[in-house]
Amino acid sequence: MPDARPTDVGIEALFVDLPRQFLDLGTLARANGVDPEKYYFGLGGRRMAVPAPDEDPVVLASNAARGVLAAGGVAPTRVGLVVVGTESAVDGSKPIAAWVHRAADLPSDCRVFDVQHACYGGTAALGIALDWIASRARPGRKALVIATDVARYEIGSPGEPTQGGGAVALLVGDEPRVVRFEDHPEAVHAEEVADFWRPTYRSTAVVDGSYSLECYLRALDGCWGRFRRDTGRRFSEFEHLLFHAPFPKMAFKAHRRLFEAAARAGELPSGAEPGADFERRVLPTLWANAEVGNAYTASLYLSLAGLLENDAVDAAGARLGLFAYGSGSCAEFLAARVGDDAAAWRGRTGLRQALRERRELSHAEYLQFRAHGEELSRNGTLRVPTRSTGPAFCGTWEHRRVYRDEALAVPGSSSQPLGRDGRSAR
Ligand code: COA
Repeated sequence: MPDARPTDVGIEALFVDLPRQFLDLGTLARANGVDPEKYYFGLGGRRMAVPAPDEDPVVLASNAARGVLAAGGVAPTRVGLVVVGTESAVDGSKPIAAWVHRAADLPSDCRVFDVQHACYGGTAALGIALDWIASRARPGRKALVIATDVARYEIGSPGEPTQGGGAVALLVGDEPRVVRFEDHPEAVHAEEVADFWRPTYRSTAVVDGSYSLECYLRALDGCWGRFRRDTGRRFSEFEHLLFHAPFPKMAFKAHRRLFEAAARAGELPSGAEPGADFERRVLPTLWANAEVGNAYTASLYLSLAGLLENDAVDAAGARLGLFAYGSGSCAEFLAARVGDDAAAWRGRTGLRQALRERRELSHAEYLQFRAHGEELSRNGTLRVPTRSTGPAFCGTWEHRRVYRDEALAVPGSSSQPLGRDGRSAR
């Protein structure tokens, strides 16, 4: 089937923002009385990002949005659409996109909204943006897509070592220097399942772990089967495969699934061996996920940033297969091609800088951050800001979320850290 999109559309720039703290999975394993190899080898992780109490999904998204506009050299006035994909909504009504709109100083003639479907939300947002650009509804305007999340499970639960967080902002337009997407609208799979969810009264997700992996693989079969049927393309044609990674070992399982299907269909080159194939085509995309842990909607795009920032890989012109999965469920397989100047993005995606600036936490500090973060969302007392510049979440005042940042200040209130009475602590 030919590519149905009438114009070149894709990513013109991308930028990552991450929490500036991490917990080593070995530290967590020892605290939980678990063999560290279970987390390092069994889940494929190394560290997990831990947001400070003042680093919420709005802060991460706002920093990523500012970063992508600077990296892409695009004036805020050229943005006509902002779509945020998130599973970590901070409000039942107000979208994160509204705060991003203010933080990035975007124009008022701009559509601004969030989309939600667990970890698929970022890809759903990207699909809307690609179609909007392809429709030429507003020639010359760009779309801003931001995947932002904080992955949080109960302390001591099996999901705990698969926590993390981060935001990836994508500038989408018709000059796709970073990645150009093809259009394969049928390569999707949806079914109602209860594999992972977060009730509105909870700040932590609930997951039926092994069932979620089963649902993920069934959705992969569905998407890949439709993509294969419509395009006649083969598994071995992609230089790199990027899989949604709730933990890096999941990408290993997904690759193995497609490899075995291709072997059964007699489609693999002679001598192809699954381990070597995984190491060559998938592993170079996963190093950042192993550092950050799960970032829900942002995880797949963190893999993309990781690939572009991987010094050992020349990704210029590479054909990519990307698999997005969101529990509940909806999934999609996307085919894309990396731009010829991929190397120019090394050191410019924000990823390496964010990782360099991180501080390692002790297990006790991690527990304190969790407790203080939950308290801050309820009664508004920021004790220690973690970042000296940029937005920081300060707590709530008259049921409003308050941020320390000129752009994000609530009109009529103080943008400084607040005391319990809602007045400035200074
Ligand atoms: N050394 C090395 N590997 C070890 C080990 C050890 N000492 N102990 C266990 N392992 C391996 C297991 O063999 C298993 O590997 P496998 O899956 O390749 O067989 C892996 O570590 C995990 O062990 P398991 O017993 O399945 O762990 P668990 O019951 O604690 O839960 C998850 C693992 C992934 C199910 C859990 O972390 C989870 O639910 N995470 C969230 C998943 C999610 O986000 N789903 C939603 C979207 S897809």
